[in-house]
Amino acid sequence: MLQIGIIGSGSIARNAHMPGYRAQKDAEVVAVCDVVPGRAAAFAQEFGIPRAYDSYQEMLAKESLDAVSVCTPNFAHHDTAIAALNAGLHVLCEKPIAMNATEAREMVAAAHRANKTLQIGLHWRFTSEAQLLRRMIVAGELGEIYYGEATCLRRRGIPSWGVFTQKELQGGGALIDIGVHTLDHTMWLMGNPRPVSVLGATYCKFGKRNDVVNPWGKWDTAKFNVDDMGIGMVRFENGATLVLRASWAANIEKEFSETRVLGTEGGASMQPLKIYKEMHQTLVDITPAYLPGVKPHIEEITHFLACVRGECPCLVVPEQVVDVQTVLDAVYQSSETGHEVVL
Ligand SMILES: NC(=O)c1ccc[n+]([C@@H]2O[C@H](COP(=O)([O-])OP(=O)(O)OC[C@H]3O[C@@H](n4cnc5c(N)ncnc54)[C@H](O)[C@@H]3O)[C@@H](O)[C@H]2O)c1
Repeated sequence: MLQIGIIGSGSIARNAHMPGYRAQKDAEVVAVCDVVPGRAAAFAQEFGIPRAYDSYQEMLAKESLDAVSVCTPNFAHHDTAIAALNAGLHVLCEKPIAMNATEAREMVAAAHRANKTLQIGLHWRFTSEAQLLRRMIVAGELGEIYYGEATCLRRRGIPSWGVFTQKELQGGGALIDIGVHTLDHTMWLMGNPRPVSVLGATYCKFGKRNDVVNPWGKWDTAKFNVDDMGIGMVRFENGATLVLRASWAANIEKEFSETRVLGTEGGASMQPLKIYKEMHQTLVDITPAYLPGVKPHIEEITHFLACVRGECPCLVVPEQVVDVQTVLDAVYQSSETGHEVVL
């Protein structure tokens, strides 16, 4: 049995990592830690985890683990992941990889030094639709991919728990929080071309107001100092471009997530997945008649454990994630300067 520890016993640990590990036959969560005294102990009791700690350093020193999940807010990803890698453990770290690309590069370097897996929790890559579309793109069904659209817009969905709305603890707002999923997903489908320049803008039009309806609950408007919407345009070395849009709050009809890629032999949009092609002098739309109904968080943990066992290379290549973080950093920088950022 692989011995797993969890660092940070909040929402994503409860709702994604615990169900993910519990679905496995050859892994068990044997320890959990959290900086808030008593929080890990309560979590351990709830899930029947044998041991709980109030510090990750103590957990790493006392336990004999194979791997950890890092489920802390973004500011703690870098230090906890590097400490675990230096202790010889494999790491599944929640998204975004870190506060910025400098931290991200240090984490990836630590993983290479330790020769351990560092997988980032970008679970959108693990849906059946994404896996099928990527296979089709690799097989050349869409030809040369020259354009992508990465959209994740919420009408009202400002997180009201945790520290999501504080820049010094999260690195940013909607853009880094949910923009990271759609950007990573789209860049991966496009084959991860190297980004060379970014033009972007971020906005904070709702977060500081007390008169905004938010079905996700009340947040602290006085502490809110991040973006509630971010947009960007990315140019890649191969000539392709990508348009990125992410919001926690926007005056649109409804929540709207869509990934679109255009190629010379076909285009695709998801979700749901639809392919647009020309066949035999006809315009055709192709939709899958059957796709397995997988749970992407569970798939990502199954894949992580396969990497831990040395059965396959990590599908979420860390260098690709550093490129994603570099683009996010550049959108923030471009928004501040008002100019395109050349990478
Ligand atoms: N993959 C997804 O779809 C998804 C969804 C939600 C959140 N997340 C990510 O998960 C992370 C956590 O989000 P959350 O919603 O669970 O937040 P949360 O606030 O509910 O939980 C975070 C927990 O980490 C603890 N913590 C903080 N610093 C720590 C440290 N140094 N050591 C140990 N514990 C520490 C906090 O006390 C808290 O209990 C964030 O990076 C977020 O971006 C990912």
